[in-house]
Amino acid sequence: MDTKVIIIDTDDMQEDCLKEASEILRAGGLVAFPTETVYGLGGDALKEDAARKIYEAKGRPSDNPLIVHIAKTKDMEALARNIPEKAYQLAEVFWPGPLTMIFQKKDCVPYQTTGGLNTVAIRLPANRIARKLITESGIYIAAPSANLSGKPSPTSAEHVIKDLSGSIDMIIDGGQAILGLESTIVDLSGEKPMILRPGCIIKSMLESVIGTIEYDPAILIKEPDKNLIPRAPGMKYRHYAPEGNLTIYEGDIRKVVNEINLKAKDHFERGNKVGVIATEETKALYGYGTVKSIGSRKDDASIAAGLYGILREFDELHMQYIYSESFGDNSLGQAIMNRLLKAAGYQMVTIF
Ligand code: TXA
Ligand code: MG
Repeated sequence: MDTKVIIIDTDDMQEDCLKEASEILRAGGLVAFPTETVYGLGGDALKEDAARKIYEAKGRPSDNPLIVHIAKTKDMEALARNIPEKAYQLAEVFWPGPLTMIFQKKDCVPYQTTGGLNTVAIRLPANRIARKLITESGIYIAAPSANLSGKPSPTSAEHVIKDLSGSIDMIIDGGQAILGLESTIVDLSGEKPMILRPGCIIKSMLESVIGTIEYDPAILIKEPDKNLIPRAPGMKYRHYAPEGNLTIYEGDIRKVVNEINLKAKDHFERGNKVGVIATEETKALYGYGTVKSIGSRKDDASIAAGLYGILREFDELHMQYIYSESFGDNSLGQAIMNRLLKAAGYQMVTIF
């Protein structure tokens, strides 16, 4: 299949720039598009066949449900039942934006889209191309991240082209995804709201609107625990895995730098390809291997935005060993560490 790539400037969108993309979606085809979190692989959420094609293109297990993207808050009523008042309060503050909410589904949403579940995940994205695409196509767009299953989520159109060119109809290049981490997922289908995936909208922000909210215990672990099964099926897979062996070091930052230098030197001298995930503050302190800065410790958002890109760069360079500093668990740190630990297969060493 030929994949058409179109470039759209968010600040200078022509009236009919999404006409062809909308037609493809209405006809049951697949279009990858930018959102503020990561790029999504879109298809008609109410068509079983479109959902099937999405799983096929990604090579994703079909028990892993898709997020349905809408363009106005009221649209959730067409897809979900028993929507609690708290959902409207959250939507008021955080939509459009990087928040996904889970509700009991209506019959119109096929089980292919929800991975066989009776619940449906809904998000109203902030990215203007994404919103225009939903509005113009006149459909609800089911979209997982537009990466091959097992690869880091795509934060640029180039990442999508690498993974999916030849297997989908169109890719819309709308520039860099500004946040770089997938949306926060909150389950509102049961008695108590629960965070199923941490993201840029953090726990305290949610609590300031709807009061106490718990984390799904399975997402806070620092080592694999087979007794804890995540409630978001997608969180159980070893996502975001780089090709190389990734180890995270935590502890006093000077000691961490020393230890990573020792490891990197050892591999370097044995002729292995080594990558170091450093920060603006520490990058000058490393002496061996390929050192890349993920962002600044003074700006969590820059680290979140840099994470998937750096993992992909190290894949392209076929790094055999990758060492990373760790990031605290305040603010965005929780979401960053959740992804980084998964990428590392939970290999983390604490330096005392
Ligand atoms: O930021 C995002 O959310 C991006 C952009 C494209 O919107 N999308 C995204 O989709 O990250 P995906 O498919 O990579 O991740 C969706 C996650 C999976 O972990 C899935 O298991 C969970 O959402 N999920 C979807 N529907 C669910 C449901 N009904 N119950 C529990 N978890 C659900
Ligand atoms: Mg994904």
